[in-house]
Amino acid sequence: MSAGDARSPRSLLVTGGAGFIGSAFIRYLLGPAAFAGRVTNLDLLTYAGNLENLAALAADARYRFVRGDIRDGELVGRLVEEREVDTIVHFAAESHVDRSIVAPGAFIDTNIVGTFQLLEAARRVPALHFHHVSTDEVFGSLGPTGAFREDTPYSPNSPYSASKAASDHLVRAYAHTYGINVTLSNCSNNYGPYQFPEKLIPLMIMNLCEGKPLPVYGDGLNVRDWLYVDDHVEAIWTILRRGRAGETYNIGGEGERTNLEVIRLLVANVARETGKPAAELERLVTFVKDRPGHDRRYAIDFSKLKSELGWLPRHDLERGLADTVRWYLSSPEWIEHVRTGAYRAWLETNYAAR
Ligand code: NAD
Ligand code: TYD
Repeated sequence: MSAGDARSPRSLLVTGGAGFIGSAFIRYLLGPAAFAGRVTNLDLLTYAGNLENLAALAADARYRFVRGDIRDGELVGRLVEEREVDTIVHFAAESHVDRSIVAPGAFIDTNIVGTFQLLEAARRVPALHFHHVSTDEVFGSLGPTGAFREDTPYSPNSPYSASKAASDHLVRAYAHTYGINVTLSNCSNNYGPYQFPEKLIPLMIMNLCEGKPLPVYGDGLNVRDWLYVDDHVEAIWTILRRGRAGETYNIGGEGERTNLEVIRLLVANVARETGKPAAELERLVTFVKDRPGHDRRYAIDFSKLKSELGWLPRHDLERGLADTVRWYLSSPEWIEHVRTGAYRAWLETNYAAR
C-alpha cells in the first residue's frame, strides 16, 4: 500500500480504551473524526482503566464496552468474529515505569503475552489490520544530543520498556512470518486530561493543588519530549488510515524539557489559575532518591511521519500544559473519584469481571 491509499476501517477493536490515551482515541474517533463505523472497547479495567473517561459516549450506538482481558484468546477471537472487526488498535498495557520496577510480572503478562494473544486472533482473519501503539522508551536513553529515529537500535532499560520492545518485535515477526497487515507507532511522553495521577504531570498538578511535596527524582534534569494526548491520537488515526503497511512511525511533540522545567511551567500555571503565590508553590519541590536505571534523555525525530503523512503536533507545551492544568482544576469530581477509589466501586457495580 502506498502512502496515498486510504484504509477505511468499519469495525474497530480498541484495546485499553478506558485508559488515558485509549479513551482520548475513542473520544476523538466518535467526536471530531466523526467515525461512522463501530468501536468495541476491550478493557480489563485495571487500576488504570476508568470508564468515567468515556461517560459521555456510553449511550452512543457506535460504541460498545466489553470488560475483558487481552490475554483471553478465546474472548478476543470471539469479539473479532462477532463484531466483524477489520482493525485492531492496541493500546492496552501496563504503562508505568515505577510500577514495572517494583512488580515486573504484570508487564510481562499483559504487554507481551497479551499482545501475542491479539496477534494470534489477528492472523486468523486475513485482511485484518493491526495497529500497535508503542513508546520511544524502547530505544533506551540518549546523551545530550541526537534523537530517536525509526531505525535506531532497540535498547530498553526498564522492565516496562523491555516488555514494550518485546511486543513490538512480536508484531513485526507476525507481519513478516504470517503476512498480517500491521502498522506501529513509537511515541514520546503524553500528557493531557484524564491522565492517571501516577505520571509526572498529573501528579504534580494534584500535589500543587493540595500543597503536597513535589517529588523530583535525582537532579530533576532528565529530559523528556512531551506530546499533548489529542495530537497523539490524531497521529494514530492518520497512520491507521494512510500509513504504509509494515512500517513504523515515530511520533513526537517538539516539546523537549527537563523535569524541573516542566514543574516550573506547572507552578506558573497553577499560580495563575488559583491566585496562590508562585514562590510558595515552588517551595514544594522536593528532591528524592533517583529512580533505579532512570533514562536520562528521550528525543524523537518524527520527520518520517511529517514528510510521508503530513502530521504535525497542534499544541506546543506551553498551551498544552495550560489546557491540562485548567482541565484538572475544573474536574474535581473525576479527581475525587480517582483519589478515593470511588471510580472502581462504580465499575464493580456496573461491570462485573468476566
Ligand atoms: P494507561 O495505563 O492509562 O491505560 C492502560 C489501559 O489498558 C487501562 O485502561 C487498563 O485497564 C487496560 N489494560 C491493562 N491490562 C489489560 C489487559 N490485560 N486486558 C485489557 N485491558 C488491559 O496507559 P496509557 O498511558 O493510556 O498508554 C496506552 C498505550 O500507549 C500503552 O501501550 C503505552 O505503552 C503507550 N504509550 C504511552 C505513553 C504515555 O506517555 N502514557 C507514551 C507512548 C506510548
Ligand atoms: P513518568 O511520567 O513516570 O514517565 P516516564 O518514566 O515514562 O518518562 O516520568 C517522567 C519523568 O519524570 C521521568 O524522568 C521520571 C520523573 N518523575 C519524577 O521526577 N517524579 C515523579 O514523581 C514521577 C512520577 C516522575
